[in-house]
This record gives sequence, structure tokens and C-alpha cells, in this order.
Amino acid sequence: MTANRFSIGGVTVAPNLVLAPMSGITDSAYRSLVKERNPGAVGLVVTELVSIEALTRHNARTRDMMRFRPLERPIAIQLFGADPWRMAESARMAEDLGADIVDVNCGCPAPKVTRKGGGAELMRRPAVLREILGALRRALAIPFTVKIRAGWDEGSRNAVEVARMAEGEGVRAIAVHGRTRTQLYSGESDWGLVARVKHAVRVPVIGSGDVTSAPGALARFAETGVDGIMVGRATLAHPWIFREIDALQRGLPIAPPTPAERFAAVDALIARLEEDLPSGAALGRSRGLACRMVKHLRGGAEFRAALMRAPTIAAMRELLTAAGALVYESAA
Ligand SMILES: Cc1cc2nc3c(=O)[nH]c(=O)nc-3n(C[C@H](O)[C@H](O)[C@H](O)COP(=O)(O)O)c2cc1C
Repeated sequence: MTANRFSIGGVTVAPNLVLAPMSGITDSAYRSLVKERNPGAVGLVVTELVSIEALTRHNARTRDMMRFRPLERPIAIQLFGADPWRMAESARMAEDLGADIVDVNCGCPAPKVTRKGGGAELMRRPAVLREILGALRRALAIPFTVKIRAGWDEGSRNAVEVARMAEGEGVRAIAVHGRTRTQLYSGESDWGLVARVKHAVRVPVIGSGDVTSAPGALARFAETGVDGIMVGRATLAHPWIFREIDALQRGLPIAPPTPAERFAAVDALIARLEEDLPSGAALGRSRGLACRMVKHLRGGAEFRAALMRAPTIAAMRELLTAAGALVYESAA
């Protein structure tokens, strides 16, 4: 087996497991929680997509989206937009804040992003993407990467061509989500196409889409030869997935989290959201994330309903503490 690590420019990604960027989810609170619950098992985290239009108009809230805790490193800050000058300016801001890598979003399917030429629209406009990458090459000392989709639609599955072009323009790694823009999140990620991208370029390729278990991740590595694997949605119900993949890669036993650990993790996440966000925003994010994280527990539906009704963060945390104590009692 090949070593379970790779490099993006001078940045070592060890192990070869990456927390996928997810808008509305992978903020600093979430990323740091995932890093902590998987000690030494997440090689790289990526921010939510950050708007270059807002950054270059000095929007303070958008700038805050680039903040991170030291324990999250190495970290890639993901930018979206279509203007080469604004991309370069924003990338410099990310570099100044201490980012290890700048990633260009070429996959977001949301109309509010694609209509302005960004996200997955860049798959249809490789000439614009080429200009953007050229501008980054001139602007940055740190490495830059792209995250692409399979293509725009069934008629234009051009991930291989876009990846080759991006490599020629100096990207140091390519992440591929094997769905087209028109598929959004339906159907399945095409790992055959991910493998074709891997064989078409020399820079590291990170595969993305539908990895939900440690054996599943190992099968994808074996089938495709990718250098790294990203996990996104599966981390929501199971933020411990990275330590499980890492253990399986190293032939070590897998230790599933106890229910008590689950409650403690949700509580830690909420505490961090409270630190980072104004109270209304923290409550909104906490509700959504907490409900997903307790999904698999017995009695989870009632507990989720109670969490949704909690009027404040403090009330949510009381519920979690009480539930955690109950679990401890029943385990004793
Ligand atoms: C709620 C949500 C938000 C996402 N936001 C982003 C994003 O900001 N940037 C990006 O490149 N991909 C984004 N993605 C795509 C994921 O990074 C990933 O490629 C995709 O979900 C497939 O992987 P998964 O099956 O492991 O979730 C998002 C996906 C979801 C479900």
C-alpha cells in the first residue's frame, strides 16, 4: 500500500483524509470540532465557500468567514467568484490571514453563484478559469487548488480537460466531486470519472462524493488510486468517521463513539458556535447541526423535537447535559 499522505505544494496532508467544504456547516466551530474528535486523523480542512465580491468590497462578516483556530491547520480557504483581479486580491487576504492553501470553487450549483459566472459555471468557461488561475499564480506564494465537478451536465462531462488545463496553470492539487452541476446532489458520484482525472494529471487528486464508511473509503482508494478522499455529509451524523478510516488504513481496531461522547460533541460544538456568532445566528446553526448529530440515537426523534423547541442556547445545552447524564447512568 502507498503511504497514506501526500503534499499540496509544500503542505503535507497526513493522513490523506480531508473535511469537505460545506456552505452553512464547515465554519471554524465545526472544523475544529471535527479535528478534535479525530485526533491526528484529518489531514486537511476546507472553509465554506467565501465570496470574492464581498471580500474585495471589505464586507467584515465575509472576512470573518476566513478566520480559523490554530488547531485547524493545515487549512484551505475556498473562494468563489469569476473576476481574476478580485480572486487574486481575495487570495492575498487569505494568505495574509495565514491560510496554508487557497482553493477555487468550480462546483457550487446554486444559481445565485453560477449566474454571476462563479462556482460550477467555471466548468463551462475554462478560459475564465485559466485567467483566474494565472492571476493566482502571480499573486500567491502559498499553493492554490481547484475543486471541480464532473462537468456542467451529461453532455459536457469535461472534468478531465479542466483538470489538465488547471494543472498547466499551476494548481498543486485537484478535488473532484463526480456529479455534474445539473445533478446537484442526486444520483451517485462517478468515481470512474474521478479515476480518469487521477490518471490524466500528475498533481494529487482528491475524490469526493458519497463516502459514508471506513470500508467504503478504503474501497474508493483501492479502485481509483486517488491521493486523498474528502468526506462531507457523512460527518454530520458521524463526525468520528475520519478516525475510523484512518484506523482501518493502518490496520487498527475501530472504536465507535459512545452515546455520551455524542452528546459531549454536540455540546462542544454549540459552545463554540456561541463563542463565534451573534446569539440568533448561533441558535439557528446549533439547532440544525445538533439535530443531525443526534439522529442515530434511540429516542432521537423526540430529542430532536425538544432541541428545536429550546428557546436559547443555554436551554439547548441543559437538554444535552441532562441527556448525557442519563446515558452515563444507564451505562453505569
Ligand atoms: C450542504 C452542502 C454544502 C456544500 N458547500 C460546498 C462548498 O461551499 N464548496 C464546495 O466546493 N463544495 C460544497 N459542497 C459539496 C461537498 O464539498 C461535497 O463535494 C459533496 O457534498 C459530495 O460529498 P459527500 O457525499 O461526502 O457530502 C457542499 C455540499 C453540501 C451537502
